[in-house]
Amino acid sequence: MTVPTSTARLRCIACGSTPDSAAQDFRCVRCGDLLEFFFPEWVFDPATLKSLWLNRKTSRNPLDQSGVWRFRELLPHIPEEHAITLREGNTPLYQLPRCARIVGLDMLQAKHQGMNPTASFKDTGMTFAASSAHQGGFRWVACASTGNTSASMAAYAARGNMHSLVLIPEGKISWGKLSQSLDYGALTCQLRTDFDGCVRILNELVRQKPVCLLNSVNPYRIEGQKTAAIELLEQLGWEPPDHIIVPGGNLGNSSAIGKSLLEMRELKLISRLPKLSIIQAQGANPFYRSVREFGGTKLEPMTADTMATAIRIGNPASWKKALRVLQVTGGEVEQVTEVEIAAAKAEIGSDGVGCEPASAVTLAGLKILTQRGFVKPGESVVLILTGHLLKDPDFTIKFHRGDLFAGTPGENAARQTRPLQRAPVVLEADLGAVIAALDTAERNS
Ligand code: F0G
Repeated sequence: MTVPTSTARLRCIACGSTPDSAAQDFRCVRCGDLLEFFFPEWVFDPATLKSLWLNRKTSRNPLDQSGVWRFRELLPHIPEEHAITLREGNTPLYQLPRCARIVGLDMLQAKHQGMNPTASFKDTGMTFAASSAHQGGFRWVACASTGNTSASMAAYAARGNMHSLVLIPEGKISWGKLSQSLDYGALTCQLRTDFDGCVRILNELVRQKPVCLLNSVNPYRIEGQKTAAIELLEQLGWEPPDHIIVPGGNLGNSSAIGKSLLEMRELKLISRLPKLSIIQAQGANPFYRSVREFGGTKLEPMTADTMATAIRIGNPASWKKALRVLQVTGGEVEQVTEVEIAAAKAEIGSDGVGCEPASAVTLAGLKILTQRGFVKPGESVVLILTGHLLKDPDFTIKFHRGDLFAGTPGENAARQTRPLQRAPVVLEADLGAVIAALDTAERNS
C-alpha cells in the first residue's frame, strides 16, 4: 500500500506569513513569532491510513518500528537516509486503578512517554528534529534544557554522527539527566543561570554559529511530538477520551498534542476533540497566570521555582500555541503545589507505574479538575506521563525519607503525605529482625 508524502509549508502563528525556509532561530523574520508546519494539500482516506499504520507494526524496516516514523504521512517529508531513530514512541497506555479511586473516577489511564529510549517524551520530537538537522548538513546541534531535552538531543546527535552542545542551569537539573548527556558525548555547559537564561544565550549563539537549534521552537520538534497523540488514539481504537491532561513547562508538548488532535479531526481520523488541559507547578505558573489574570492576552515572564525541575520555566516559548489549543479544545489550566506534586507522584508509583515529578502534576491537577466538576466521574481521562521515575531518584528518596520538605514552606502541609512514605528500613543482618519488619508491615497494610 502506498500513500503519497505530504507537502508541508511553514507559517507564522501570529502574522500568517509563509516563508519558504526558516531562519536559524526558527522565528518569523517579519514579526519574530513562532513558525508551525501546515499541509495545504492534505487529502487522505482515514481508513487507508489506519490500516497502513497498523500493518507497519509487523514490518522489519526501522522506520516502521518507530512509533514516530510509522505515522510519517502526517509529518513533513524527510528522506529516509537522514532518519535517525532509536525506535522511539510505541509507549504503553496503562490503567491506574488506585489513582482512579483516589480521584473518584471509574477509570483512569496514563500514556507513559517516559518509556521512550532516553526515558522522556522528548525522543518523539527529537528523532524528527535531529533528522532534519542531519538533512540540513549540520555538524553541531544545540539546546537549552532542564535536562530531558538535552539527554534526548545528545543521544540522537550521537546516533546521527553530529556533535551536540547542551546548555543547562547549573545545579538545577537532576543527576540522571545530566549523566545521560555526558555518556552520549555532548559538550555539556552548566551555566550559572536558570533555564530561561540558557535560552537567551542559545538564541544569541545560533545567530553567530552554524549550529542547529533543537529546542521546541524548532517546528520539527512539534511535528515529531504530534505522534504521541496519534499513537494514543490508535491505542484507544480511535475513540477519543473526554480529557487529556499534560504538564506545562515550555508548552511545546501541549502545543504538539493539540495540533495533532486538530489535524486528526480535520482528516476525520477522529470525530470529536478531547478537552486538553494543562497543569503547571505553582512556583512556575506563568501560563496559568496569563490565562487566569489576563485572559491569555499577554504572558508576564517570571522567575520560576519548583522541585519539579523539568518544568522550572518562567518564560515559556510556545505559550501562544498552547493557548490556542486550550481555546479550541475547551480545556482548562490549573496550578498545583509542591506537596500536591509529591503526593501525586507517590500515588502514581503505588500503581506500579511511577514517573518523574513534573509528570505527576497531571494527577495533582486532575484532583482539582474533578473537585471543580470540570471532569466528571463517568468521563474518560488520559494523563500524559512525560518522564521516567528513574530520572530523578533524589526527589523520590528524599520524599520517602521525609526530608523533601524540611525547612521549606511546604513542611507543615507535607505532614499529610506521611501515609504515602515508604522509607527504607535499616536492620541488622538477622532473620528475626526481617520477620519482625514483615509482621509489622502486614499489620499496617
Ligand atoms: N515533563 C517533563 C518530564 C519535561 O522534561 C518537560 C520539559 C515537561 C514536562 C514540560 O514540557 O516544556 O513541552 O511544556 N522539559 C524541557 C527540557 C523544557 O529541557 O527537558 P513542555
